[in-house]
Amino acid sequence: MSLQPHAAVRPLTTEPWTLTDSHYQPQHLLLQETLLSLGNGYIGSRGTLEEGAAEGTASCEGTYLNGVYSSEPIHYGESAYGFAKHNHKMLQVANGKQLKLSIDGEALHAKTAVKHTRQLDLQYGVLSRHTEWHSQSGKQLRLQSRRFVSQANPHLLAIELTLTAVNFSGEVVLQSDLDAAYPGFYKKDDPRVGEMSIADSLTLLRQQFSDDNSLMLHRARGAHFIVAAATSHLLPDSASLLAQDNTTANILSQQFALKLVQGEAQTLYKLVIYCHSTDIEAGDTLSQQALSLLSSARQQGFNQLLSEHQLWWQQYWQQADVGIEGDVALQQAMRFNLFSLAQSAGRNGQSNIGAKGLTGPGYDGHYFWDTEIYVVPVLSLIQPQIARALLSQRYSQLDAARQRARQMSHSQGALYPWRTIGGEECSAYFPAGTAQYHINAAIAYAIRSYYLASDDWSFMQQMGAEMLVETARLWLQLGFFSARSGKFEIHMVTGPDEYSALVNNNFYTNAMVQLQLRFTLQIVAKLQAEQHPLLLQLGVTDAELRQWQQAADSMYLPFDDKLQIHAQDDNFLSRKPWDFANTPTDKYPLLLHYHPLVIYRHQVLKQADVVLALLLLDDAIPQAQKQRDLAYYEPLTTHDSSLSSCIHSIVFAETGDTARAHEFFGDSARMDLDNHHGNTEVGVHIACMAGSWLSLVMGFAGVRSRADGLHFNPQLPAQLPGLCFRLNYRGRLLQFSADQQQASYTLVSGEPLTLFHCAQALTLNEGETLSRVIGECL
Ligand code: BGC
Repeated sequence: MSLQPHAAVRPLTTEPWTLTDSHYQPQHLLLQETLLSLGNGYIGSRGTLEEGAAEGTASCEGTYLNGVYSSEPIHYGESAYGFAKHNHKMLQVANGKQLKLSIDGEALHAKTAVKHTRQLDLQYGVLSRHTEWHSQSGKQLRLQSRRFVSQANPHLLAIELTLTAVNFSGEVVLQSDLDAAYPGFYKKDDPRVGEMSIADSLTLLRQQFSDDNSLMLHRARGAHFIVAAATSHLLPDSASLLAQDNTTANILSQQFALKLVQGEAQTLYKLVIYCHSTDIEAGDTLSQQALSLLSSARQQGFNQLLSEHQLWWQQYWQQADVGIEGDVALQQAMRFNLFSLAQSAGRNGQSNIGAKGLTGPGYDGHYFWDTEIYVVPVLSLIQPQIARALLSQRYSQLDAARQRARQMSHSQGALYPWRTIGGEECSAYFPAGTAQYHINAAIAYAIRSYYLASDDWSFMQQMGAEMLVETARLWLQLGFFSARSGKFEIHMVTGPDEYSALVNNNFYTNAMVQLQLRFTLQIVAKLQAEQHPLLLQLGVTDAELRQWQQAADSMYLPFDDKLQIHAQDDNFLSRKPWDFANTPTDKYPLLLHYHPLVIYRHQVLKQADVVLALLLLDDAIPQAQKQRDLAYYEPLTTHDSSLSSCIHSIVFAETGDTARAHEFFGDSARMDLDNHHGNTEVGVHIACMAGSWLSLVMGFAGVRSRADGLHFNPQLPAQLPGLCFRLNYRGRLLQFSADQQQASYTLVSGEPLTLFHCAQALTLNEGETLSRVIGECL
């Protein structure tokens, strides 16, 4: 169906490299806090005001640590065997950003400022602020700040604060807090929003001032983590400590007096360190670690720390930047999306990327298949080392996936959880959770994407192959060779479309399993050829391999002969069509207005399902078939999931409708900046952000990464005069640029590369550019 018209909510200005809040807008504060978040894959810190939100203004403070979580029992009214037992929540930790200023007892707040702007610089990852404020007695104070979460030092958040007394000389009081008592955020009746409360998830072990530092140590409830937060200040000579207060649990507060001289700027710095340990007895060691990280950050000083951080971003953009001609809003959106991926993706092999990144409490910070189908394919081509780290994180949870398979009565193989942080299934609603077995195929697909893009055989030997084998085994346990159809069938699963549940033979799932089994067999053959010990270790037998082959070859792929389309599952096409004509726009998303059963018994989709398979199966499905499938399913799709538009954009582009492709691309690219789904307040939509890059690269440039190399089939929509991006491919840096007439390929660095432009091979040497006419492809 057509995309829902969105009320344009654009609380930040539209510029190519920045997001600017030009004045205080309390009604958009929550949204801005998400959009102005800072993160480095480990720490995530929402863009809250240093002085906190004004009384009565909706706000959500959030400082998170990726891969670190609290865990609590899930309470069911009616439970059953095998239901998920615990929910993990991304750990919300002490807020070190708080800096409150006052003059003569009167508190400065953005709310009463005469001028107030904030700006997020996407190029260098710095959030800056300029506020001018007049006290009731007429004292004029100018405040400028810069804040960053270091990309070079995973543990560090730093703030620079510059104060200028415009028309007076005198004292300003600064209160600086480390606060682990702030309220969580809760939105009733919305399954997409978590219920995070900082007090619920941390047990205070220690809080103290030592020398110039504040330190807090907590234990995460229900999980094996301790976490330390520490702050320190670098103050000008004119500053003196007035008081410090350690008496309230979970709050360490220090007050400083600053003597300002009219017209002279004074600058101070606050450094905040976060670190954690899984050894819950190691509180002393962890505290020491936090303090020593703090002391080395102090020694380096703000400017040095900032320049290391900026260097990281410079290098990132050299590989990842995307240029979009003629549309500043889309240019900004693509940079913001790529910026957000870099801020939220875990890099240490122990953390992944949450559906909301590190920008808000949505989905409790859980990791979903979003990583594998949306994010890893992007990062594999722009930041392969981060893609590898994300896959390594899944590998670190392979044992948990094996255990889950046993719980689910599968005697062999591994079943990854639908949603989790620590590896345990956390979905409390199994029809749209555990039943989404396709998570296993998604992980296999991501391993394949990474491998095709990087050629990293050592990853495959160390981790990839084992995950492929174990997840492949599961399919043979779950599915069966049906006497009725003579085919391999998979029953009682839920596909990507969460508006149908517990179905037999979901086309997407079956087709992705077929792809996985075939790819796994190829990898196994390669391991066999080099007599790698892994297969022996895993007990892979020839009989088992034959079974995989047989299952793949006889996979049941539901098809409707009359309509000549793939059937989403065995029953979907026989269901009653949803009455779109009589569904008012305020009833979307359907999941917030109809009982799941009502939705399940109709032909209505939340998101791309068959259409996603059309993309991922690549040239295994003929174009004409793709057109027919798309023409049937798109009108039934509500796009209530933010994972939908980008996929439709690509398939529309591939099948020649670039105008609709552009429309869907625009929807996904600006999903968060324009708050299309009305819930960016609780975090950005990471999969959608990654998907918007896929729309450009796989859609308009027609890129497909195949065993024989990279294929391009560019076709820009009329609305897009020019496009350029870079790919990090098998150790080379490649630049693609195109306008309406021609595409140019430059090998920026690396060994000679042969790629395909409209199926025609082109060989590039380092530094060489070759251009080709676009019309050739048609
Ligand atoms: C979608 C899922 C997705 C999840 C997290 C849901 O609304 O239907 O496919 O994994 O959001 O982004």
